[in-house]
Amino acid sequence: MEIVKDIQSARERINNIKKEEKRIGFVPTMGFLHKGHLSCVEISKKYSDYQVMSIFVNPIQFNNKNDFDTYPKDIMKDFELAEKAGIDLIFLPDDSEMYKNHLTYVNVETLSDHLCGAVRPGHFKGVFTVVSKLFNILLPDVSVFGQKDIQQAVSIEKMVLDLNFPIKIIIAPTVREDDGIAMSSRNKHLDQEQREKALSIIKSLRRAEEIIAQGSIKSKDIIIKMNEILRKGNPDKIDYISIVDYNNLYPVDRLTEKNVIAVAAFFGETRLIDNMIIEKNNGKFKCIY
Ligand code: PAJ
Repeated sequence: MEIVKDIQSARERINNIKKEEKRIGFVPTMGFLHKGHLSCVEISKKYSDYQVMSIFVNPIQFNNKNDFDTYPKDIMKDFELAEKAGIDLIFLPDDSEMYKNHLTYVNVETLSDHLCGAVRPGHFKGVFTVVSKLFNILLPDVSVFGQKDIQQAVSIEKMVLDLNFPIKIIIAPTVREDDGIAMSSRNKHLDQEQREKALSIIKSLRRAEEIIAQGSIKSKDIIIKMNEILRKGNPDKIDYISIVDYNNLYPVDRLTEKNVIAVAAFFGETRLIDNMIIEKNNGKFKCIY
């Protein structure tokens, strides 16, 4: 596994790989790797021959300075995990390599209006900008994004389509701990009590799945039940419990063909998100993952 820190060296490696006509798979990350990130690599390997990972805590996507300053880091462990997972090249730029006098930003209109976009102003613009830059530097054929950050993944699919990036985007199912909590670098900030309470997020999603299986299709009814369960975990703040259409990420009054049910809540200072995808199949609504 090679590690490069500057854009020029990354381009040289990528050019050589392109000459060998290998397909490049790319998993962008902010490091502090866990099985969720590594599952994206596993999927990428199925579609490509040479695996690239970026590790960059992107300053322009943080709208909370404390969140940025305290973002967990363990670069030596990341190298070890990435190598074991089969990464060939790590791109590890610093802030000045990525942003020198930067004036250009990428935005995907309307898809950021709701869910996290509504409560984290500027966040997605920062994500789309850095992902566009990484795509242009690393020229992947395939890039994998996790369902855990569903608004990010759906918006990047759209960005790639709209801006004609010749890249196949794949969405990887959410990887969970044994008790169901979605793996996240931010889980590290939870103490034992908060970790216990945070289970109310997945419990609320499972409750939604149950009542949908029993025939509930009105968003309001589903959200009321989810809210009851989530509040049992005493979250310090609920950002949203929301049911949106999968394609435009706008709230729906009742379930449509394909929906995302999403939750964001704070336990202490830590903001956690999770979601589930519901699809209509033969007239029945089912959680597909
Ligand atoms: P980060 O939070 O490090 O996540 C990197 C990738 O791993 C994202 O595509 C994310 O959705 C995926 N991922 C995280 N937890 C997961 C889980 N439990 N199961 C499956 N996949 C999971 O997302 C970012 O970084 C940044 O916004 C980035 C795209 C790198 C741009 O800065």
